[in-house]
Amino acid sequence: MKSLDLAKTQASGNPERPGWRQQWDQRTDRWMTSPRFYRWAISNPLTRWITRRRAAQLFQVMAGFVHSQVLLACVRLQVFEWLREQPRSLSQLAQHCRMSTAAMQRLLQSAIALRLIEQRGADSYGLGALGAPVAADPGLRLMIEHNAVLFDDMRDPLALLRDEIQPHMQAYWPYMNGDNPHGWEAEKVARYSELMSASQRFVIEELLAAYDFSGHQQVLDIGGGKGGWVLALAQHVPRLHLHLMDLPPVAALAAERMLQAGVSERVTVHGGSFISNALPSGADLVTLVRVAHDHPDAVVKALLLKIYQTLPSGGRLLLAEPMAQPAGEAPVGDAYFHFYLLAMGSGRLRTPAELRGLMLEAGFESVEPIANPMPLHTRMLLGQKR
Ligand SMILES: C[S@@+](CC[C@H](N)C(=O)[O-])C[C@H]1O[C@@H](n2cnc3c(N)ncnc32)[C@H](O)[C@@H]1O
Repeated sequence: MKSLDLAKTQASGNPERPGWRQQWDQRTDRWMTSPRFYRWAISNPLTRWITRRRAAQLFQVMAGFVHSQVLLACVRLQVFEWLREQPRSLSQLAQHCRMSTAAMQRLLQSAIALRLIEQRGADSYGLGALGAPVAADPGLRLMIEHNAVLFDDMRDPLALLRDEIQPHMQAYWPYMNGDNPHGWEAEKVARYSELMSASQRFVIEELLAAYDFSGHQQVLDIGGGKGGWVLALAQHVPRLHLHLMDLPPVAALAAERMLQAGVSERVTVHGGSFISNALPSGADLVTLVRVAHDHPDAVVKALLLKIYQTLPSGGRLLLAEPMAQPAGEAPVGDAYFHFYLLAMGSGRLRTPAELRGLMLEAGFESVEPIANPMPLHTRMLLGQKR
């Protein structure tokens, strides 16, 4: 199913190049891989900067794992939170992190090179430009820690691609093995729901910045997790009535959270599966946040159809999730999400055009992209039922 879906994408997304272009590509490949071309390009002042830039880019790709481990070490040592309070000296940091000053210096030099930490004086270290967001966001730190599970599964990328290993990521996400939560360990459900809840803050800001929710009466969030999004929406538009649907053990966590936040009267929590149960009715807006990419096309198609059927005329679906970057934009997160979803064992990263196609197929008459400030981890599509 997975590979079929992906093959379809590639067939429709990459039109064949004309014959002359293919010959040109082949000739370029031969030039670019010849040592003579390299020697010429690096010695020519007009092309040297391109050669150097490409070499630096390739080095970044090759060293990516080391870079992310430097980041993980800083997160595990809580260096960023500590530097957020005030700059520290080498010996203070070494003592705090319980390591020798030589080891600490090595980590600091690496983190400085990656702009995670900044040297502020002869013996003073503060937050770097890329360390500051990590210091500010516990959800980001949790995701960085969680990536250790993915990297473990990617230790042998060929075994992962050839389906020769049982990835730990599949055990991390119990709903990858079906939507019957009977027998799921409560601790596992709580762990993934907490990760989602902590990392949802960014997405919530994107949603609130991109769309005016005040014109709606009732909103249903499907696969809403512990309810961070419906809670934020309840606070943002105080007269809205909200519904959240998620699998029963997750819905129980959400219900508890709504009770604690004092919004239980305005937020109805429904425990159930969007695969095997009917959707709650009454909403004029459905939100689907970071859900579709977890599932194969057949499940997404059936879900979109259910959403379409449950909406009244004029009702809308707002779909938000990471999407493959459209042609012409730098595909910063694509490789990460492609492999994340492979290790998870279900779903795939879709382009906005593919998701739009699935929404149109379900019946939505108009489906348009909604611009949001940070399209790296979330993009949005809005569909309307006539
Ligand atoms: C990746 S999480 C996203 C959670 C939340 N929307 C967010 O952005 O943080 C996907 C959610 O979909 C829920 N889910 C998965 N399969 C489901 C199903 N068949 N029915 C209802 N919810 C489901 C999961 O329990 C989980 O809470």
